[in-house]
Amino acid sequence: MANMTLKLLVWRQPGPTVPGRLVPYTADQISPDMSFLEMLDVVNEGLIRKGEEAIAFDSDCSEGICGTCSLVVIGIPHGPQRGTTVCQLHMRHFHDGETITIEPWRARAFPVVKDLVVNRSAFDRIIAAGGYVSVNVGGAPDGNTLPIGKKTADLAMDSAACIGCGACVAACKNASAHLFVGAKISHLALMPQGEVERYERAARMVAQMDAEGFGSCSNEGECEAVCPKEIPISNIARMIREYSKALSTHRKWQWKATTSE
Ligand code: SF4
Ligand code: FES
Repeated sequence: MANMTLKLLVWRQPGPTVPGRLVPYTADQISPDMSFLEMLDVVNEGLIRKGEEAIAFDSDCSEGICGTCSLVVIGIPHGPQRGTTVCQLHMRHFHDGETITIEPWRARAFPVVKDLVVNRSAFDRIIAAGGYVSVNVGGAPDGNTLPIGKKTADLAMDSAACIGCGACVAACKNASAHLFVGAKISHLALMPQGEVERYERAARMVAQMDAEGFGSCSNEGECEAVCPKEIPISNIARMIREYSKALSTHRKWQWKATTSE
């Protein structure tokens, strides 16, 4: 496949309190084997050569595991390739001469820092509210001393695959974080290690999610459709069951989140 020339419309915003706009650029000599982020590197090298400011965007692992890359490509969080992070999206999925819009996640709880970079520390605060096991379980036991059924282990692993990227929030018209929080609550609720703090965890994480300003879930499934790890919305149903049980049986766990910024 020959190299391509693409027309880009990139969101440029100098800072959180300054208005942004879509700026046109041309991406020349783009190999179909490049990743989307490598294509942006080529554009940035051209901008730097001309003495212009490079486009700011986030990335770290380039392997689809860290959840840092966060671009809305042609209106779709992580772009048009299903089950793929934008760092793993290859330019062969686009065609020569195509116009590609590139925007940041858009949600009140994820304010723009600069250009395509957003602040996702709201997710960190939700995890800090309860997304862990703090009971002392001693040293690591042999793998077969705590038998866990295959079906349960597989379900927990499916939930644990969430990389915390925030695409689910960016795709949702309500900017809901239910899929992310549902996955994090589920993977611990399903395992015996998570049992002791199970309901306290659900109450605290949901309260923090609400305090951060994420919206409610209207069950339309855009989150599942764009999730690069294809986390199913059954995690949301499990989160709601866990939360309802926390409130109905343990009223003391009606936490008020206090750490929102
Ligand atoms: S549920 Fe999917 S889209 Fe949402 S944060 Fe986790 S990996 Fe990203
Ligand atoms: S850069 Fe790590 S998931 Fe994309």
